[in-house]
Amino acid sequence: MHTGKAVSQRRTKPRDLAMNLPNLEPPKNSQKHRKKMEINTDSKNSDFGQIVWISDPADGFVAARVTDISQDGFTLATLANNETVQRRYDETFATEEDLAKSAEDNCALMHLNEATLLNNCRVRYANGKIYSYVANILISINPYQPIDGFYSSETIKSYRGKSLGQMEPHIFAISDKAYREMRRNKMSQSIIVSGESGAGKTESQKAVLRYLCENWGAEAGPIQQRLLETNPILEAFGNAKTLRNNNSSRFGKFVQIHFAENGTVAGGFISHYLLETSRVCRQAANERNYHIFYQLIAGMPADLYQKLALGLPETFNYLKHGSTAFFVHPKSSPRPNAERTSKSVFSTDTMVDDYQDFARLQKALTLSGISNDEQMFIWGTIAGILHLGNIEFEENVGDSRGGCRVTPNTERSLAHAARLLGLEEEEMKLGLCARIMQATKGGVKGTLIRVPLKAHEAAAGRDALAKTIYSKLFDWLVAAINKSIPFETSSGYIGVLDVAGFEFFAVNSFEQFCINFCNEKLQNFFNERILKQEQELYAEEGLHVPKIEFSDNHDCIQLFEAKATGLFDLLDEEIKLPRATFQHFTQRAHEANQKHFRLDTPRKSKIKAHREMRDDEGLLIRHYAGSVCYETRYFVEKNNDQLHNSLEILIEQSSFPLLVALFNSNTDPAPISSKTGGKLKSLTVGAKFKSQLAALLEKLNDTGTHFVRCIKPNNQMKAWTFDGAAILSQLQCAGITSVLRLMQQGFPSRTSFASLYSTYESRLPPNLARLDARLFSKCLFHALGLEQRDFQFGLTKVFFRAGKFVEFDMMMRQDAETMTQLIAKANGWLIKARWRKAQYGAWSVIKLRNKIAYRFEAAKKIQAWTRGCLVRKRFAKRLTVYRKSLALWEQAKEINEILNNLNDASKATWGSSVNSTTCDLESLVQTIKKVSLPQEIAEVGKAYEKLAKQVDAMISALKQQAKNDEMAEVVRRRKEAEDKERREAEERAAAEKEREMRRKAEVERERAQKEYEAQLVAQLEKEAAERAAEKKVAAKKEQDRLDAMVSSRLATSDGVALAPEPAQAQTSTATSSSHGKYDLSNWKYADLRDAINTSQDLNLLVACKEEFHRRLRIYNDWKSKNSAKRDEPPTRAPLAVYNQPSTSTEVALVSPKANRYFKVSFVSGGTDKRTGTAQSGMWYAHFAGRYCERQISLRPFLMPQLLVAGKDDLNMCELPLEQTGLLRKKGAEISEQEFESQWLHYGGKTNF
Ligand SMILES: Nc1ncnc2c1ncn2[C@@H]1O[C@H](COP(=O)(O)OP(=O)(O)OP(=O)(O)O)[C@@H](O)[C@H]1O
Ligand SMILES: [Mg+2]
Repeated sequence: MHTGKAVSQRRTKPRDLAMNLPNLEPPKNSQKHRKKMEINTDSKNSDFGQIVWISDPADGFVAARVTDISQDGFTLATLANNETVQRRYDETFATEEDLAKSAEDNCALMHLNEATLLNNCRVRYANGKIYSYVANILISINPYQPIDGFYSSETIKSYRGKSLGQMEPHIFAISDKAYREMRRNKMSQSIIVSGESGAGKTESQKAVLRYLCENWGAEAGPIQQRLLETNPILEAFGNAKTLRNNNSSRFGKFVQIHFAENGTVAGGFISHYLLETSRVCRQAANERNYHIFYQLIAGMPADLYQKLALGLPETFNYLKHGSTAFFVHPKSSPRPNAERTSKSVFSTDTMVDDYQDFARLQKALTLSGISNDEQMFIWGTIAGILHLGNIEFEENVGDSRGGCRVTPNTERSLAHAARLLGLEEEEMKLGLCARIMQATKGGVKGTLIRVPLKAHEAAAGRDALAKTIYSKLFDWLVAAINKSIPFETSSGYIGVLDVAGFEFFAVNSFEQFCINFCNEKLQNFFNERILKQEQELYAEEGLHVPKIEFSDNHDCIQLFEAKATGLFDLLDEEIKLPRATFQHFTQRAHEANQKHFRLDTPRKSKIKAHREMRDDEGLLIRHYAGSVCYETRYFVEKNNDQLHNSLEILIEQSSFPLLVALFNSNTDPAPISSKTGGKLKSLTVGAKFKSQLAALLEKLNDTGTHFVRCIKPNNQMKAWTFDGAAILSQLQCAGITSVLRLMQQGFPSRTSFASLYSTYESRLPPNLARLDARLFSKCLFHALGLEQRDFQFGLTKVFFRAGKFVEFDMMMRQDAETMTQLIAKANGWLIKARWRKAQYGAWSVIKLRNKIAYRFEAAKKIQAWTRGCLVRKRFAKRLTVYRKSLALWEQAKEINEILNNLNDASKATWGSSVNSTTCDLESLVQTIKKVSLPQEIAEVGKAYEKLAKQVDAMISALKQQAKNDEMAEVVRRRKEAEDKERREAEERAAAEKEREMRRKAEVERERAQKEYEAQLVAQLEKEAAERAAEKKVAAKKEQDRLDAMVSSRLATSDGVALAPEPAQAQTSTATSSSHGKYDLSNWKYADLRDAINTSQDLNLLVACKEEFHRRLRIYNDWKSKNSAKRDEPPTRAPLAVYNQPSTSTEVALVSPKANRYFKVSFVSGGTDKRTGTAQSGMWYAHFAGRYCERQISLRPFLMPQLLVAGKDDLNMCELPLEQTGLLRKKGAEISEQEFESQWLHYGGKTNF
């Protein structure tokens, strides 16, 4: 039989064999073993061959089959083309069993990870389904094509009153949920729609608006219509064609729909943020100015066209640098006049049509109460801006002060602009070509002086004027819209937030800087709302939900808005300087935040062009979604949107009161600052945006929130085309992957017992009304047929798992019918519960009857005993003599014993007198049985006394005789002993000699043991250091991964060149594969196992064992992260084995050779159906040195599982002994026999 000891010897014995040279190549000669391994690796139990998702630069994730566990991850063969690839563990994820399976809610999948999320979206999108959920968050993927009936009135009706999950996922379902929660919780709600440009945010926002207005707006009459008509106005003035979206909103908005007490639409309010004014003067190639400019040219009636002196887009400086093509609907007619489009080509778009949109705009303006005169003013102003842009300047050679003048050939444009803006031509010229300054002397303000401007300064002033007029006009329009949708009272609102998502381009300027700051804030809000608060609530309510890590971006927000050192404050400080420059600002920003993790110099970018920038030309900011490099060239100017004095004075002189009013009115959402000093009269753009954002977040904090994450499926704006990598990056940027992790273990829906009870209270029948809130809630859940694992009871609230929203919502529904149904069900359940109680009562009575019968029997027994007692008392005296006599008889037997021990001569002397005494005794006993009279009893008493004395005398005489005999015996024995002692002394001397030899051998063994322990402790310390280093590297890798994704998307979408990556230093994980002189990084899993089984080189064997188990540990870590039921402990060994690793002193006790055996009981997870208690199992392990050699798992109702290293490693405990909790667990260590007997008992082979 091969016991454990034998095995250990077999594995470790070759210590004395000659050391071979390092064997750097995997063994090739052991064909037999290889064959065995191949069989193992293909076996059904093995994890090899399983299909997993692996990261892919093009598709996000592709499916592949595991072929080997290599140094830092897997070796795999792709399913598509059987190509062999390597992937790290964090790039590999578990798949669903059926790759083509899809779910409406991603949380309903078995494996929740980013790969299954992406695949689910892909499968649904391929089936024409653009929406899905991650718990309560809606994911919407732009189809880039209208879907028939998808947003029709019938669809709107079908979603009304339906809970999330009851119907196909839809933006209408989220809208309905928001509405119902507003009514139910009496709390305003907001729907945060986010996503990249072109992802479909504005279309989603319009759908929400329509849903709410169509369902609950009929009574609002014209207000409902006006609310819906706000879009054509906002889109005409605030949207433009960009490279990413033909109808891109260049501003952010928060649209609030207010509701009256009775739940109908009462009115609305729109807040807007950060209109991109730079677009008014300049657009990138192939982008356009705001739609209104083209609509005006395409749609203006001929007479007005003449009056406004309009012309082809190519004739205007503010239009000609970008695309001058008009948009038409593919099926549209009529089109703009031929002479207005002669040089322009048409672009088609289903959403934008300049000609028709102009007519729509006019209608919408009229409906919003903007009079014809006001409309004329708007057209004039827009045309005026176009003409203003055509004014050019040149050096005024006649001016000794170096000023400029309007070029003669653009005087006409100046005339048109002046006319359309109600200004005097000459005044306008003066205003544009010079600025007014007020001289100050000793703090006293002096006369105004006119300072001539250089041509480029005048051009900058012209553009600033155009931008300011446009942005003021936009503010005024929003204010006018707000006036047209007033509400007198509001019992709550639903706000829809539509702001640009996190964005990055090859060149990023101040606009992206602000937008990305806004997204940092929103991401932080999302983290707080969904991740942090959620986890805090679980803790408060005492729910057992493991902690979810998410990347906190608080430090990035601080980088932007910290006092004094924050980028916004530094930018504002720069404006105050007499010679403000962007370089100075950039330098200050780097200096003030020298060691800030979130800020770096452009040199650190992955993009070639950024690396070529100087340190004082750019900021590389590490955002939550990846690093973005900002070019700071125009930051200072863009942050300060103030006009110089002469232009302000010029506008004040306009003959159009409306234009003057635009500049005086306070339509600005941010308050004007009272800052003194000529330069900073009002808040800077950054400061204004910062305070607007703060106000917005305050609002969001006071509302219930719903999130819609819009996804752009491809960069080409192609219908139904799914670009996996781009979509994955957006899902990650939106923080969906961390939500997945939380949702997997969390409970997204909840309500308090009290509110649940009060909802139902008024309708409850008396028997239910009597129950307390908690009990009533329990009643309700049982009535709904919910299983225990679907919900958890906290201290004050009940929580539901993701995917159980339908039941939750049904319970929370306040319509009479559902409530009555539920109450009836709860009542039914209560009756059944009471019936069960009654049954229990009857059963208890039966039990009582049995108990009474049992006690009756017991009473009878007591009576019998009592009677016996009385009788015994009556016969006590006779009995006493009888017993004494019996005892004496017994004593007499001792006499016989002593007699037998005497030598033969004494026996002959005493024999006859002993016999006669024994006979007397016997006859006395017989006599006592017969006597009954007291006198007779007294006589036998005397006879007894006499005999007793006789027996005593005989015993002492016999004892004396025995002593004498013994003395003779002692003398004989002493002699014998002396002989023996002499012999033993001789033997001891021989043994001492032998012991000395053994002690020397032991000293030698201990020295070898200590040497090994020192090696082991050093190895463990090395492993701990490596683990710490790995953690650090992992954090850096995550940031690098995000950065790489951002830059590779730029490379694919915008063709940006990436900088060559410097050769990476070997990571610590790689070094962990080098074991002393052996580099095992190229060894396959099977090679390692092979070497362990066959190698004669002890050092190589140890190195292979370490590497083999290191790989197993990382692999098992991955496996547990990717298992479907993550809250269950690993099945390889009980939880206790994985807890509380041993201390270093205990570690030192782990001997390399020792075989140790352990036994641990564990709760198996299942429950006994009869008792309802948890079932327990037993786990046995045999460790040969540091690693598990054999293990037995005994689980109730399952066949015993016997596993052996070398065959079943993937299913066995992979930890080295000192990293398990076994050494610390009292009573866990057992004897070899105990283990072996179990092993054989359950069918283990002796030769395993
Ligand atoms: N649900 C939808 N059905 C059909 N087409 C859609 C849908 N959503 C978006 N689109 C198409 O995508 C285009 C871009 O959508 P939208 O303007 O809503 O994007 P956005 O996220 O608001 O972008 P931006 O940030 O640039 O404003 C729309 O013009 C339309 O053609
Ligand atoms: Mg938009």
